[in-house]
Amino acid sequence: MTFPSELIKILKSSTRIAVLTGAGVSQESGLKTFRDSQDGLWAKYKPTDLASPEAFARDPKLVWDWYAWRREAIKGVRPNQGHYALVEMENKFLEFTLITQNVDGLHRFAGSKNVLELHGNINLVRCSECRTFTEEWDEESELVPQCKKCNGLLRPDVVWFGESLPRAELESAVTASRACQVFFSIGTSGVVQPAASLAHAARNNGSIVVEINAEPTPLTPKVDYFFQGKSGEILPALMKEIKTMDDRPF
Ligand code: APR
Repeated sequence: MTFPSELIKILKSSTRIAVLTGAGVSQESGLKTFRDSQDGLWAKYKPTDLASPEAFARDPKLVWDWYAWRREAIKGVRPNQGHYALVEMENKFLEFTLITQNVDGLHRFAGSKNVLELHGNINLVRCSECRTFTEEWDEESELVPQCKKCNGLLRPDVVWFGESLPRAELESAVTASRACQVFFSIGTSGVVQPAASLAHAARNNGSIVVEINAEPTPLTPKVDYFFQGKSGEILPALMKEIKTMDDRPF
């Protein structure tokens, strides 16, 4: 895979990089993307119909069981070459911010440090009432497990449709997107706000925008560079170029 030399030149002179990732970066680890159809038991439900406060109020056990199933599915999953290439990218650039919509925790697992989890983390469980986190609950219970402190129902610490994003993470994401010289949008369909607007914030502040995705998205016509394909293949190839760029004459 070859990359335009002007992009490599821009990266060579950049110190501030922001990256936004979505479900596509975990696809090669074996996880379904959010908008893929679901398997087996869950095939008749749309994730968008389960991931909401309304769904939890209507049928908390259904929503709890769906997340329990997803938590279980994630347990055996490992980061892929795309995750590892982003760890290398963090080591290469002075200021690097990795903003993710993924709740699977794979970026940290791979070794990324400056990670902003905009939609929370599926492995963390907290009370839906008093927000106290807990590491112990009865998974076999017929009912949704309850908080030991206030008896509220437990829920995953993820952001559901209609809920606000964690304020500190969002502010840091906006700041990094405005300040960066190159912004990468990787493996995200770019249809969920406000994450989707980060690319525009970057662009409006003079950043170059690069997109890596298996398919074109609504963002594609507005980016400076679009690389179509798998992030687990394109990112390592790009990192290979970036790593040698210091010795390269332009
Ligand atoms: N490499 C790169 N891109 C890929 C790959 C891959 N191997 N596989 C799939 N993709 C792309 C798809 O083309 C699609 O554009 O990843 C994107 C996945 O899109 P979604 O499933 O919509 O996931 P995402 O953009 O992360 O969704 C955002 O929406 O439903 C909410 O909270 C949920 O965090 C999620 C958010």
